[in-house]
Amino acid sequence: MKITVTTPASLKKTPLLFVPAFAGESVDLPTGVEVPAAFTQGFEAAARTTRESFATGGPAAQIVLIGCGERSALDMEGLRRLGAVMAKKAEALGVSKATVLATDLQGLEGIDDCDAGQALAEGAILGAYRYTELKSEAKAATCKGLVLAADGATYKRGVARGTVMGAACSLARDLQNKPGNVLTPTAFAAAARKVASGSPRITCKVIDEAGMKKLGMGLFLSVSQGSDEPAKLVHLTYKPKGKAKGRITLVGKGLTFDAGGVSIKPSAKMDEMRFDMSGAAAVLGAFRGLAELDLPLEIHGILGCSENTINGKATKPGDVHTAMDGTTVEILNTDAEGRLVLADCLVYAARKTKPDTMLDLATLTGAVIVGIGHEVSGIFPSTDELRDALVASGLRTGEKCWPLPLLQEHLDAMKGASADLANIGSPAVGAGSSQGAAFLRGFVPQDIAWCHLDIAGTAWNTVNRDWVGGPTGSGVGARLILDYLFSRS
Ligand code: BES
Ligand code: MN
Ligand code: ZN
Repeated sequence: MKITVTTPASLKKTPLLFVPAFAGESVDLPTGVEVPAAFTQGFEAAARTTRESFATGGPAAQIVLIGCGERSALDMEGLRRLGAVMAKKAEALGVSKATVLATDLQGLEGIDDCDAGQALAEGAILGAYRYTELKSEAKAATCKGLVLAADGATYKRGVARGTVMGAACSLARDLQNKPGNVLTPTAFAAAARKVASGSPRITCKVIDEAGMKKLGMGLFLSVSQGSDEPAKLVHLTYKPKGKAKGRITLVGKGLTFDAGGVSIKPSAKMDEMRFDMSGAAAVLGAFRGLAELDLPLEIHGILGCSENTINGKATKPGDVHTAMDGTTVEILNTDAEGRLVLADCLVYAARKTKPDTMLDLATLTGAVIVGIGHEVSGIFPSTDELRDALVASGLRTGEKCWPLPLLQEHLDAMKGASADLANIGSPAVGAGSSQGAAFLRGFVPQDIAWCHLDIAGTAWNTVNRDWVGGPTGSGVGARLILDYLFSRS
């Protein structure tokens, strides 16, 4: 779906016109648009409801009233949802393109023109998103474009930003939705190379298992030991045109499938573990966005791509392996594999990229779902500044974040009996997400501002918000990261 902006003064011929309507306000149709008598009567304009009719004259063949609810209640997520509803409605009506009277969605309290354009465009792209590549008879989308009739260069800039955000999130979703036999670690690395090839500022280096062995990444390698799919460590680098205002490294957990290993998972819902690469998908999605932006930051992306399955060579509970920094770890549960992959990635990232700030995104624990559910990601920020920035980006993008505790008690719980650390906590019950974060803590130097984001709840199975929801990838993290990077620019 291509989103364009046009000046509202000249309403051109269009197969479909969306007219926003607010609760408690009269509906204003543009001059020249003719509809059957009573078309606008009694439309209560509850948020995201629609009413449609063929026009009796004028530039638009069909008119759809789109309810926006109370004017004062409309926020960025509300606009995003309206964008999604319109994209879906246009597709359902089978038109090739549609126009939105977006001027009516400008000048809302607390939403400047840039944000308004961004949210509507982003929502439309995300609402139009479909994953069809594995359907033998997939039909291409009918509606190819949405024209936003709106005023001003700022709004247009917002639409451009929303388009980039939408594409970033859509790539993350595409990667998430690919099953484990299609998106292997090798295929993930190829997808990263493809993103890098789209921009002269992005480079991509892929380290294979032999390379990881040379680097001493014993924890990372212990996970794919039981798999026929070789692990890949992907290192993406974005260099700005001029001097960088900061250096930020993004690390993503990229388990293309997590069967649990010898500590095998129950079979119910095991298929969902194809989504265990959602952290890496978010990071690669963000790089897809970076390819089209001009941010004055140096940004690294480290994707830990691996498969946790089982064969005769698989890691056994009780085995001890050594991290890149020399830390020894007793692997008491092979299903706590994400932290093993991430630990080596974090050591690599700190040493090779020397960032001022490091974020890691991972579907790390089922416990975060028990604790805070599917609508908010659990975050473990090492500084108040980073916490505030991520919470703010969460509110702006609708990818909400909530800080969780990482205390000395959680660090103590991760001590090993025979090795330095154990990969599961003791006591084994309770505070699972905090213990996961505590395991990672020691692999990040104290002088780097760091935040671990546990996205196990938000990466799929979220409630329906028109542009997202249900048992498919949500793309969570890509837009959140980009918004954070904007705040640093
Ligand atoms: N990928 C899972 C976490 C997960 C589980 C995400 C369910 C989404 C839904 C992770 O690798 C894992 O298995 N974690 C274990 C850790 C435990 C063994 C300490 C978990 O959460 O049970
Ligand atoms: Mn696991
Ligand atoms: Zn996992």
